Amino acid sequence: QNVPMATAAPKVQVKDTYRVAFSQNASNNPWRLAETASMQAEAERLGYQLTVTDANNEQTKQIQDIRGLIAQRPDALFMAPITEQLGNVVAEAADAGIPVFLLDRDVDTSVAKRGEDYVTVIVSDFVQQGRRAAWAMAKATGGNATIIELEGTTGSSPAIDRKTGFHEAIGQCPGMRVVVSQSADFTRAEGQSVAETLLQSHADATAVYAHNDEMALGAISAIRAAGKVPGQDIKVVSIDGSRDALTAVDSGELFATVESNPRFGPRAFQALQRYAQEGQVPVQQILEDRLFDSSNAAEFIPEAY
Ligand code: AHR
Repeated sequence: QNVPMATAAPKVQVKDTYRVAFSQNASNNPWRLAETASMQAEAERLGYQLTVTDANNEQTKQIQDIRGLIAQRPDALFMAPITEQLGNVVAEAADAGIPVFLLDRDVDTSVAKRGEDYVTVIVSDFVQQGRRAAWAMAKATGGNATIIELEGTTGSSPAIDRKTGFHEAIGQCPGMRVVVSQSADFTRAEGQSVAETLLQSHADATAVYAHNDEMALGAISAIRAAGKVPGQDIKVVSIDGSRDALTAVDSGELFATVESNPRFGPRAFQALQRYAQEGQVPVQQILEDRLFDSSNAAEFIPEAY
């Protein structure tokens, strides 16, 4: 990877300990809880003081949270931005001289510049996750599928990129088509209610692609409620790798889940330390993700979140 280094963002002084903040966008699913827990555990291990805010899945609250954290002048501000529209508030932090590290989601880079308005973004390759979900779907269905797509939070980088990658890949498969796409906001409850409606309006659907596990698990309940057998009548593929999803893969209700690793704590604080010491880090860091299917899901259940 030829990634430029962050050199123009606000600097971090080398210190024995840091006072840092993390703006989390929601705590409404196991993935988010695992991400927050990873940040807290690593801060505790290092003896850093960490303040965490939870935006309750509301963009306006996250903007308020971030402005409140800027006013506290932490040594560094970590953020998991709810949508790509948070570029302006990232730039506000930089203007206030606070180094920002984005975790798990990106912002619009035409508004906030990598390496200038924020030091780095540490993320999975969401486009590749979408492609891998499509390849798994092709395997599950033999390349013939009438697909319902449950999208994540509208305007979030994972929803945008997981859609792009999936559609790009199924474009290579003449027998696979998405007949309807709708947001279910990355939650199990909405996944279930949106899938219930879409399964009625698209009774010919043979597959569900969900942008995360929680929506897939909601869809599996909806499939059962519609009198169909998940994994047999309707194949389901998703992204994350939560414990409930791995259990569903093991039981055959979910065909596969592409990993999206929420454990950012160690990488986040390593990036902070390296930036303090060297004055520069790559402006983007991509996590390696695995694929969980019937061949390995059971093995990973004990370590899952
Ligand atoms: O940004 C990562 C996504 O956000 C995860 O897939 C999802 O579960 C979370 O809410």
